Amino acid sequence: MKVKGKNYRTVWMEGSSVFMIEQNLLPFKFEIFEAKKYFDTCFAITTMIVRGAGALGAAAGYAMAQVFLEAPEEGRDEFIAQARFDIEATRPTAQNLFYAVKRVYKAGKHSVEQAVAEANKIADEDAEDSRSIGLYGNELIKKNAKIATHCNAGWLAFVDFGTALSPIYMAKKEKKKIFVYVDETRPRSQGARLTAWELKNARIPHIIIPDNATAYLMAKGKIDMMIVGADRIVANGDTANKIGTLGKAIAAYEFGIPFYVAAPTSTFDLGTKTGNRINIEERNQDEVIYQTGMDRNGNIATVQVTSPGSRALNIAFDVTPSKYITGFITEKGVITPEEDLIREIATKDE
Ligand code: MRU
Repeated sequence: MKVKGKNYRTVWMEGSSVFMIEQNLLPFKFEIFEAKKYFDTCFAITTMIVRGAGALGAAAGYAMAQVFLEAPEEGRDEFIAQARFDIEATRPTAQNLFYAVKRVYKAGKHSVEQAVAEANKIADEDAEDSRSIGLYGNELIKKNAKIATHCNAGWLAFVDFGTALSPIYMAKKEKKKIFVYVDETRPRSQGARLTAWELKNARIPHIIIPDNATAYLMAKGKIDMMIVGADRIVANGDTANKIGTLGKAIAAYEFGIPFYVAAPTSTFDLGTKTGNRINIEERNQDEVIYQTGMDRNGNIATVQVTSPGSRALNIAFDVTPSKYITGFITEKGVITPEEDLIREIATKDE
């Protein structure tokens, strides 16, 4: 996608360094973070310099490639095993992260060059899958559609294009009139900061709404459909996504509003049977207690927004049971949770 006229991917590798858009600074500053060693890439993942299913997969794949580049002659196998463990410990809910590490680890067993090539292949596939999701998803979007999305599943969350936003970009390209409701205004404001920034750059009409406004807007008939991303989809279709997704899915079901999950098949985890087996990441309470933003003088500041002395619970994801999901928009087409196809379609990595 273009930023100030220049084409960017969210994450890429040059030489032995991994480069990524510093997402914690957006929308206030646009900077590139360079991770010289695999450990720096792990740091970028845990601190959310890079985040979002596909971008995490690409970053983790690159981190694994860095491991092969860095591994010493002596104690090579132990170094690689420990480093793989370090990478996999960064964000436990993100299926793409495990998917990419596994592929690059396997390739690296043959040669360092193959590890790097595999990591680049994963990134290219992610961009291509996102583009296809846009094509299939666009077919579901009617003219004048009012679409809600949650968190950020745009190009910043993938290598390019995104998932939930890719159909929206495609609809815009086809000059369909659309309007987007954007939320995730807490805990990290990924919708309010990142999705809004993406849509503004793409000149797509949108409005930011507080997280607790969606059900009311649905009840009032203001929302025609909802498209969200996913961090992990298990065999029965239960879907882990950013905390807050579940409530919106239940509301959409109640009001008869189609609720779609857009995700590449690399996000499917068929080894896990049901959603209650998903490892849900809990993050530092400071993300709830403090917020970072820009003051009226243009200074970036972090301030406490909760009552001093009270603790906060920061569960990063929730799990939406498949019964609330109308369909999955994948790079291979749209499938419904009941279809056996969900199993077939996600065998790409097996
Ligand atoms: O706070 P984040 O950025 O870690 O939230 C996770 C996500 O990016 C989402 O859950 C997103 O909707 C699915 S991944 C594109």
